[in-house]
Amino acid sequence: IEAQKEISFNTAPVASSPTAVKQITILYASQTGTAQGLAKKYGEQLRNLGFEVSVSSMNDFKTNALKKLDHLLIVASTHGEGDPPDNAIAFHSFLYGKRAPKLEHVKYAVLALGDSSYEYFCKTGKDFDEQLEKLGAKRIVERIDCDLDFDEPAAKWFELVKEKLKEDGAVQELYKEEAAPTVAAPTTEYSRKNPFHAEILEKINLNGRGSNKETIHLEISLENSGLSYEPGDSLAIYPTNNENLVASLISALGFEEQAKINVGDISLSLKEALTDLLEITVLSKPLMEKIAQFTTNKEFQELLLNKEALKQFIHGRDLLDVVEAFGPFSWDPQSFVNLLRKLPARQYSISSSQSAYPDEVHVTIGAVRYEVDNRQRLGVCSTYVADQLEIGDKIRVYVQHNPNFKLPEDDKPIIMIGPGTGVAPFRSFIQEREERGAQGKSWLFFGDQHFVTDFLYQTEWQGWLKNGVLTKLDVAFSRDRDEKVYVQHKMQEHAAEIYEWLEQGAVVYVCGDKDNMADDVQNTLLDIISQQGNKSQQEAQEYLENLQKQKRYQRDVY
Ligand code: 2AM
Repeated sequence: IEAQKEISFNTAPVASSPTAVKQITILYASQTGTAQGLAKKYGEQLRNLGFEVSVSSMNDFKTNALKKLDHLLIVASTHGEGDPPDNAIAFHSFLYGKRAPKLEHVKYAVLALGDSSYEYFCKTGKDFDEQLEKLGAKRIVERIDCDLDFDEPAAKWFELVKEKLKEDGAVQELYKEEAAPTVAAPTTEYSRKNPFHAEILEKINLNGRGSNKETIHLEISLENSGLSYEPGDSLAIYPTNNENLVASLISALGFEEQAKINVGDISLSLKEALTDLLEITVLSKPLMEKIAQFTTNKEFQELLLNKEALKQFIHGRDLLDVVEAFGPFSWDPQSFVNLLRKLPARQYSISSSQSAYPDEVHVTIGAVRYEVDNRQRLGVCSTYVADQLEIGDKIRVYVQHNPNFKLPEDDKPIIMIGPGTGVAPFRSFIQEREERGAQGKSWLFFGDQHFVTDFLYQTEWQGWLKNGVLTKLDVAFSRDRDEKVYVQHKMQEHAAEIYEWLEQGAVVYVCGDKDNMADDVQNTLLDIISQQGNKSQQEAQEYLENLQKQKRYQRDVY
């Protein structure tokens, strides 16, 4: 009976009333799948309310359909320094270009996702919101900009959107009571809000003695978790803050470690809150502005007014630096913790295949350590893993699915570019292809500092090369010789063959450092396409955009 209800309800003549919301289009701009997940969830819920909804990636959306749009909801995340995610680049530039149509017939709302520790917080969402308005579209709900802890503001936005849609369309009211029972049952999977406590089965430093690097290979048990993942997905790990840093901070603040405070509805000690729940290592402009309310320190006020100086100060520094440089402040423990964001989980590309290890997940984590002002700084999660965890310990994890970094059909060639820890997902890809007996060719470009100490998973790659699961392997060790050799130099050496693979339908994957490597690799790819395909810069650009649209150029860069 339930099924029947659902069918009759879904085929209901939704557009029959003149005031009805005819069609809702939800577009997502998503790099790692978060915005996509929200968009799909909203689509599902609106469908259950009786609306006709289509949900799609901006890349898959045909821009000539803009003419027929009725209601448009956009869920957009921002990547790095204000960039649109890869799947949104083309649509973003289309809306800003000469060919963008007037959109006076469109009603829209934008939900922006971002990270307030970046200067261009939620920029992509802001762009879409502003540009749609410029093109004449009518905003039905104010944009909400969400920080990392997006659940609450996103839910609020969606409530407002639903109210508006109901006002605009009487149709859904008719079906409301029938529709209610068809809401999907909650999944039993552990999630961001309810992480799985997973046991560490193995922990190995992949780098040899004398290396500048420390790359931790972790094998984690997923037994009885029900968690599942595919190659390309990430594992999110909740860290705790470093004990010494917490102690130094509390002492610099002049507070008691055992001072009682509340975080949400949890009551606990200041030390516990700063260790387990709150972020203390990342500064942002919004945070600095909130802190300013607790001091009249002139230098601090001046710093806030000087954009460049502020940017420079917050880069690589933490709350202890602020307290030491500008204290004392007029806060008490509670008003201090009220300023802080929740400590977010860190995401790592999964380096195993669940077909090969049904009850396990592996990750490959580079320990981050650097010095600023004569004090050693520790990457929160990477050094929590490297320094605090032992085999047998438990960590809190969940799987972050990434639909934008996925293997193609088994017979398609793949080209994988992953220097450093960027190699992680490719170990997962090749394990998976081995399990499936996939016949497609595969080519790995790996790079790191030294052959002897830094060739991550060397014996495994060599084994796969031998048994044919991996077709080609090219490596670039940058510090073994005088001149730097990087993965893109190796790509250039094989330009003709790379282009040949592209023409044969290969999918190109890039994983690793965003700021330097990913751009250089992309430029090399463009050069190869233009040289080998006899194309102008412009044509090469279009060729790459086309690859991207066909999901044949996928990046997981950070
Ligand atoms: P380097 O540290 O010697 O400069 C993994 O970290 C590898 O990526 C290292 O060999 C590192 O070299 C290299 N790397 C650094 N910058 C890069 C860039 N812009 N493009 C490609 N590889 C780079």
